[in-house]
Amino acid sequence: MMKFLSGIVLCSVLIFLTACKSESKKEESVKEESMAKEEVASVYMEPYRPQYHFSPQEKWMNDPNGLVYHKGVYHLFYQYYPNDIVWGPMHWGHATSKDMIHWEHKPIALYPDEHGYIFSGSALVDTENTSGLGTKENPALVAIFTYHNKDAEDAGRNDYETQGIAYSLDNGETWTKYAGNPVIKNDGMKDFRDPKVFWNAKTKQWTMMLVAGDHLQIWLSKDLLQWEKASVFGKKQGAHGGVWECPDLFPLQVEGTDITKWVLLISVNPGAPNGGSGTQYFIGDFDGTTFTSTQKETRWLDWGTDNYAGVTYNNTPNKDRIFIGWMSNWNYATKTPTLRWRSAMTVPRKLNLKKFGDQIHLVNYPIAAVDTLVKKTASKNITVGAGQTQELNTETLNQTEVTFSTDAKDFVLFFKNDANEELVVTISKNYKAVLIDRIVSGKTNFQEDFANTIHQMPIADLPDTAFNVRILMDQSSMELFINDGQYVMTEQIFPSKPYTSLVIENTGQKVLEFKDLSVSPVEKVW
Ligand code: FRU
Repeated sequence: MMKFLSGIVLCSVLIFLTACKSESKKEESVKEESMAKEEVASVYMEPYRPQYHFSPQEKWMNDPNGLVYHKGVYHLFYQYYPNDIVWGPMHWGHATSKDMIHWEHKPIALYPDEHGYIFSGSALVDTENTSGLGTKENPALVAIFTYHNKDAEDAGRNDYETQGIAYSLDNGETWTKYAGNPVIKNDGMKDFRDPKVFWNAKTKQWTMMLVAGDHLQIWLSKDLLQWEKASVFGKKQGAHGGVWECPDLFPLQVEGTDITKWVLLISVNPGAPNGGSGTQYFIGDFDGTTFTSTQKETRWLDWGTDNYAGVTYNNTPNKDRIFIGWMSNWNYATKTPTLRWRSAMTVPRKLNLKKFGDQIHLVNYPIAAVDTLVKKTASKNITVGAGQTQELNTETLNQTEVTFSTDAKDFVLFFKNDANEELVVTISKNYKAVLIDRIVSGKTNFQEDFANTIHQMPIADLPDTAFNVRILMDQSSMELFINDGQYVMTEQIFPSKPYTSLVIENTGQKVLEFKDLSVSPVEKVW
């Protein structure tokens, strides 16, 4: 008992010291100007450093947070631990961009305080000043996040996650915590977090998606300060291999129709189809209070192992629905072989609803701004005989875009280097599956879960006509988009030397044609 009590005392002292340290650090870093461009460029050259994906300049990052567009600027906040390259007391890191491709690092936005660490959440512009935290002339940028009280958790309590808010009156440069925090208390739910809030113009209410262990809760508010629970969803629907995290809910028009459906994103960890962390989606309806879906099967936004906790931007200028995910997996996120920093984000992707046969899919595809980085090389048409292979490229492949279209049913792509490492992508319409094998793709032994299985994606609704394939390779990732984003897989890879050979193998019985094939370098953004 004495040991237990002295543990609690020690913990409290430590948390108090951390909070003090955090406050003084805050002052320091607010004074700091954003990093000079040259300095950033000199840092972003380490092995495995993504060259056109967002990664923090140094230290640990996980989920994207507070994605909001405001006055011509896209804000990206993220789960950040500034003292180590493994997860720790969470802060909100911050970066801004005009195009979601070139980013400027900003000082840390939110530090842990007496209510706890700052877990995931969202940000919005309180245009009508419903909260009274700004003015109509200068509306507040408001961040809504989860407080995770480690002290309370360690003391064995269940109510350690609550929801808090902070606001900025200078376009996100500096932040003030709301004095009345937390705005939503906890009545005993262990996992109660990751608020995503949007303004519902129809009901004139702020609408919050909040996850509570195995289900979604929807909360409503007129002023962002007082909240009422309105409904729940999902206890008996969807994948439940682990805890539900990072919800998002938004309407999308089904392409080519005048039908609008609501899409709910729910990340789940563990329980993803290829192990560990993954993001499922539900297509349904939302009446302002309750979300319903008749969907029977579980649907995944991305079948790769490395796209988690993704959410979408609030307030985008043309109502585009732009998604960014964390390009890692809790199974091995803290072990990946990088030194100064850990993890990157996916490229920003535009979400759409599209009909394939009688099925509607949530399609995700790189935003058009990614194209501006691609130095498109001349494309060619090639044929590969039955059972034959052909080498398509002999230059460095780790910062390229590979595109082609084909009506081939069975083929395999090999990305190889001269250290005998290879990443193998099999596309088989006959078996209605895509396989990604990264078992000997490079460094893999940092964690046994990283490369102990071949990852699979069913492609049952892929149309029987020609389809396009687009692969974005960066220094330590590959993103595979089939048929304009109908089927997507995102995977980390750590080749010990760059891949320099791309080989295609025709595993079928007929000569295959690959059209408009190009392997194009992608410019770095740092
Ligand atoms: C998802 C998550 C969130 C939580 C955050 C903590 O990856 O577990 O549920 O808010 O990370 O860093």
